Amino acid sequence: MSENQATLSADGKTVEMPVRSGTIGPDVVDIRKLYGQTGLFTYDPGFTSTASCDSAITYIDGDEGVLLHRGYPIGQLAEHSSFMEVSYLLLNGELPNQDELAEFTRTISRHTMVHEQLSTFYRGFRRDAHPMAIMCGVVGALSAFYHDSTDIADPQHRKISSHRLIAKMPTIAAMAYKYSVGQPFLYPKNELSYTGNFLRMTFGVPAEEYEVVPEVERAMDRIFILHADHEQNASTSTVRLAGSSGANPFACMAAGIACLWGPAHGGANEAALNMLKEIGTPDKIPHYIERAKDKNDPFRLMGFGHRVYKNYDPRATVMQQTVREVFSALKVNDPLFETALRLEEIALSDPYFIEKKLFPNVDFYSGIILSAIGFPTTMFTVLFALARTVGWVAQWNEMISDPGQKIGRPRQLYTGPTQRDYIPLNQR
Ligand code: SDX
Repeated sequence: MSENQATLSADGKTVEMPVRSGTIGPDVVDIRKLYGQTGLFTYDPGFTSTASCDSAITYIDGDEGVLLHRGYPIGQLAEHSSFMEVSYLLLNGELPNQDELAEFTRTISRHTMVHEQLSTFYRGFRRDAHPMAIMCGVVGALSAFYHDSTDIADPQHRKISSHRLIAKMPTIAAMAYKYSVGQPFLYPKNELSYTGNFLRMTFGVPAEEYEVVPEVERAMDRIFILHADHEQNASTSTVRLAGSSGANPFACMAAGIACLWGPAHGGANEAALNMLKEIGTPDKIPHYIERAKDKNDPFRLMGFGHRVYKNYDPRATVMQQTVREVFSALKVNDPLFETALRLEEIALSDPYFIEKKLFPNVDFYSGIILSAIGFPTTMFTVLFALARTVGWVAQWNEMISDPGQKIGRPRQLYTGPTQRDYIPLNQR
């Protein structure tokens, strides 16, 4: 690879491809002209070596365990910022001043209510429907209510849709929970913070005033920050691909929610807590470690491993600290936390996990906190989707406003039958 050029020789052909550099991180080989010049495709199922876009929103260094949002380290944002401020940062590229933050927060709070007709959607579900199934349906249905803001070529439409999505996700998520427990929906109360409003809509009841516990509000807000965005993960890539066809933003976010639901992705927080419950006590850990290492056993340590992080997920560090804060604020103690700490200790000293660089990820400790706050495990991925909506929206806006944006349409390595003639039924 000469300076800024990569050379590929195959089938007797040699082609030079430009090498591009970002501000930080790996350079990329620009292969856009490869097929036209050589008739060759590249092959990368799972996209382990593929950059799908330019982006200025989030940077991850998996080897160093670094996560930056518009250049700011996640640890500093988790300690000093708020989810509303991080949302503004992800959307606009800079931290807001006081007036900008106040205006943004006021705008979001003005969109927290959903159309009254939307509440009838919930009645069509069984009470025991998984809340993620409800989220897929209800968020997708939002496009039936906002025809006035689905012209994605109009920056104003994009802005109002973005604000509506960020503002309404807590209301929709809280309604999914209320429906599952047979309690009435609560309307938002906009004098509360974004996160306090969500906690009240989820755990409050019309029969009495709901007091937001400041330590829980802070911990929940920090959990939202930790889940806000994460480069081109599976669900964000889904949102980008859906958006590349010109689909409206509500449909794109519903696609992202569907992808996030998978246990290999956002569904891992629910799966991780269920795994800890199955393990139960620390003495059972060696058995499960052996199962996780057994190639013939599909069992994996949920909440461990990551496509990008080959070091400790910086979000898991903050999450572990947050467990202790919530436990002391709520004066609770969950023995599963001890089991989780012991599981981490044993796994990180095991050659299998060391060699494969499998560390706890964002999902390993989050379930313990969410359970302590009072959420059922079925709500954990809903909370992930609630927080990740701002990341999806920021990435969608970045893609749509790129003048070079094209519809995403990958090719394949065909391994099926060559052409053959139809055989009439009576001859088969
Ligand atoms: C999230 O992409 C993102 O940024 C996602 C996310 C975000 O914020 O959007 O960070 C959120 O999705 C976090 C990940 C949550 N998922 C889990 O915790 C599920 C358990 N983890 C694994 O399924 C797995 O680690 C993945 C899916 C997260 C990553 O899978 P990769 O990158 O495709 O790696 P792999 O499956 O090829 O594993 C590499 C090796 C394999 O062994 P070999 O075939 O090489 O012998 O490591 C093994 C795997 O078997 N391995 C594990 C393991 N994870 C990987 N073995 C035991 N337990 C595990 N958890």
